This record gives sequence, structure tokens and C-alpha cells, in this order.
Amino acid sequence: MRLAVLLSGRGSNLQALIDAARVDLPVEIVLAMSDRPCAGIDLARTAGLKAVIVDRSACSSKDQFESALNSHLAAIEPDLIVLAGFMRVLSAKFVAPWANRIINIHPSLLPKYPGLDTHVRVLANQDAEHGATVHYVTAELDAGPPLAQVRMPVLPGDTPQSLAARLLPLEHRLLVDVVGQLAANRR
Ligand code: GRF
Repeated sequence: MRLAVLLSGRGSNLQALIDAARVDLPVEIVLAMSDRPCAGIDLARTAGLKAVIVDRSACSSKDQFESALNSHLAAIEPDLIVLAGFMRVLSAKFVAPWANRIINIHPSLLPKYPGLDTHVRVLANQDAEHGATVHYVTAELDAGPPLAQVRMPVLPGDTPQSLAARLLPLEHRLLVDVVGQLAANRR
């Protein structure tokens, strides 16, 4: 299965996919693409992947930005697009042709806490548990059909930082598992 990974930041989920693909995840990462220069693009290049920055701030409109993303994707024809820390909301026009072939990882137990600052909101609401969700992407932010979740307890003394640090390795495993399942389903 040919993967395109879209990201905006540090790229640890991309790294988890790269590492798993070197072992037994039956995927080829054919493109890493970001909306800004970022550490994730650097690590993609270090891993020898095709890596492209479509700088949103250099585009005159969202439409132009998405057209540029789409032309890179159309040239590569991935089987699956993975949003892994991609910090742009994609339009219905962009998402429609990729329906059921585009997934996102989000650090909350959706439908709780779509959007930003999930760890802060979990603590503010004194939730007993937290987690992450991999879901299909639709035009509505963090609201597409869920594929899988991982859960963990919130512990006394937890901070947004401690929650994020404890959740991240669970996110990596979840994303790799879901991608593996989708790859298996294609056979
Ligand atoms: C992860 O927490 C992911 O759930 C969220 O953005 C973060 C990306 O981290 N969507 P990284 O860039 O993969 O390290």
C-alpha cells in the first residue's frame, strides 16, 4: 500500500510509520508533504523519502494551496493519505475525491475534544481517561467516522505535558496498527 503522509511539525508519527515499514508494515511511504518547513520534512529527507513543502504562507488562497497539494498527490497516486499532525483544515472539495482513502490521528477520545489543546481540556474537565483516535477525514474537523481508539488513565498530578508524553507512544502504535489493518483489508 502506497502512503502519502501530510504533516506540519515534529514528525514522530511519520517516524513510527517509517520504522514499522522497515520491519513488517506492508507499506511504502511515497510522499511526505507539509504546509511549512518543519522537522518532519527534515526527517523524511534523512530517511530518503520524497519530501515536499507546499508553503501555505506563499499561497494566495486556500484554493491555490489545496490545488498545489493535490497536484503532488495526483502525480504520486497514493492508496492512502495519512494526516499526522497536519495543522490545516481541508475543504470538502479537497477531501471528496479521497473519501475513505484519507485518515487522521487526533489526540483525544473523539467525539470529545475536536480541535486544539486536547490535553488541557481533558484536565480542565477532570476526565478519568484520555486517549487518541484514528478516523477517516471528512470536511468537518475531527468528525469523520472513527477507525480505532487507544485509551489511558489520567493520573493524579498529570499536566498537559505529561499527558502528551504518555499518549504519544500509544498514538504511534495505534496509527501503525490501523494502517496495517487497512493494508491487510486491501489484499
Ligand atoms: C500528534 O499528537 C497527533 O495526534 C496530532 O498532532 C501530533 C503530531 O505529532 N494530530 P508528530 O508531528 O507526529 O510528532
